[in-house]
Amino acid sequence: MAAMYNKIVILTGAGISAESGIKTFRDADGLWENEPVEAVATPEGFERDPERVIAFYDERRAGLKKAEPNAAHHALVKLEEKFGDNFLLITQNVDDLHQRAGSKRIIPMHGELLKIRCLGPQEHIIPCAENQPKECPECGAKMRPHIVWFGEIPFEMERIQKALTKCDLFAYIGTSGVVYPAAGFRQMAKLSGAHVVCLNLEEVGGGYTDEFIQGKAGEVVPKWVALRVNPVNRGSPSTPQHSSPLSQKQRLF
Ligand code: OAD
Repeated sequence: MAAMYNKIVILTGAGISAESGIKTFRDADGLWENEPVEAVATPEGFERDPERVIAFYDERRAGLKKAEPNAAHHALVKLEEKFGDNFLLITQNVDDLHQRAGSKRIIPMHGELLKIRCLGPQEHIIPCAENQPKECPECGAKMRPHIVWFGEIPFEMERIQKALTKCDLFAYIGTSGVVYPAAGFRQMAKLSGAHVVCLNLEEVGGGYTDEFIQGKAGEVVPKWVALRVNPVNRGSPSTPQHSSPLSQKQRLF
């Protein structure tokens, strides 16, 4: 029988988009094997050689055009539809595959490939589907990818921390769990009382995990979500029902 949970937080990483044809970072032939992180994913690298950095993200934007959301992205939309405001998806991915699948309650904590930001005082953020212009169309300042680089603080950390301390189920999917602060989310959720599940191709070290479900995200995530969306209830009196709507007061995300 599937256990029942009321407040769900999901963290995804590059592995969830691997079956859509997007390269991960640390697997064989991953992005960081071919490009030094410090050259293309740090503010210092951008200062040294902005054209190289811009070309790296332009190329990734072109690759994203050919990719489509896979079964794992679609399954998480079903989970969101079931849990509504008691669901939050945090993604480290900068692709837009969750959004294209239909995810709405989502925090792209490492930024978004399809946006660029200017270095002017107003930090204009504009959509960018192809090659990035060098100058801001609003104010003429220099532009950069709207991506969180090493040494920078991810977006919406306060909202994320609040959700992690309130959830009773935390699952991390397709992430190697080595990049902080996201790597610390399972510990935060676990110490706040949540059940912690890892769905990944290979086991992720570091503890604070109650369950490990091994496999490709496109295969294991839909099955795991189906159990959360339609839990098999054999009538245990101690099992709370999901069907009773939660009051506004309980909606904390
Ligand atoms: P990684 O490349 O570090 O890890 C990808 C994980 O996905 C690995 O553990 C793989 O085993 C697993 N994986 C690969 N294919 C899979 C599949 N089909 N199904 C399930 N799992 C699969 O990527 P992230 O953990 O996302 O940050 O990396 C975290 C951050 O490091 C990124 O957001 C990026 C990077 O540097 C920034 O650029 C700021």
